[in-house]
Amino acid sequence: MEWVFSLDEIQQAAADFWKTWKGKPVFAFSGEMGAGKTTFIHALCRLLGVKDAISSPTFSLINEYQYDCEGTKRPLFHIDLYRIKDEEEAIRAGMEDVLHSGHLCFAEWPEKAPGIFPPDKVNVLIQIVENNKRRISVQV
Ligand SMILES: Nc1ncnc2c1ncn2[C@@H]1O[C@H](COP(=O)(O)OP(=O)(O)OP(=O)(O)O)[C@@H](O)[C@H]1O
Ligand SMILES: [Mg+2]
Repeated sequence: MEWVFSLDEIQQAAADFWKTWKGKPVFAFSGEMGAGKTTFIHALCRLLGVKDAISSPTFSLINEYQYDCEGTKRPLFHIDLYRIKDEEEAIRAGMEDVLHSGHLCFAEWPEKAPGIFPPDKVNVLIQIVENNKRRISVQV
């Protein structure tokens, strides 16, 4: 299953992606630096109606947002493992707890601490196809 999109088309791509994968709690986004992981996660947050400062310049290891889930406010976590050394450090940062909380989680750089993820995570790969096109594929 894959989607190819330019930045202009990213909201539509996010909507198509979500139509297929909505309901899963944990999404692990792999892809080289600058592939577009953060950009796509922000598009998903926008789609979900996150109103908090998504574009905040200070990015912590775990960012918690609120989204509207069928009329109920629910937490949503955006986790960036890039600066994490190993699983022990990820656990100390509270990432494992968040990933197993049942709340919606979007995580970048899962390969930094693969062991802390639940087995039913959705593995998403983002690749640069050409200048402004990206390919998103889900490994099943
Ligand atoms: N179709 C596209 N989808 C997403 N990003 C795009 C696209 N076309 C161009 N870009 C650009 O590519 C860059 C992607 O940066 P982004 O921070 O999202 O990457 P990243 O994968 O999160 O990198 P890092 O591993 O450093 O966190 C942005 O500058 C964005 O504007
Ligand atoms: Mg990023």
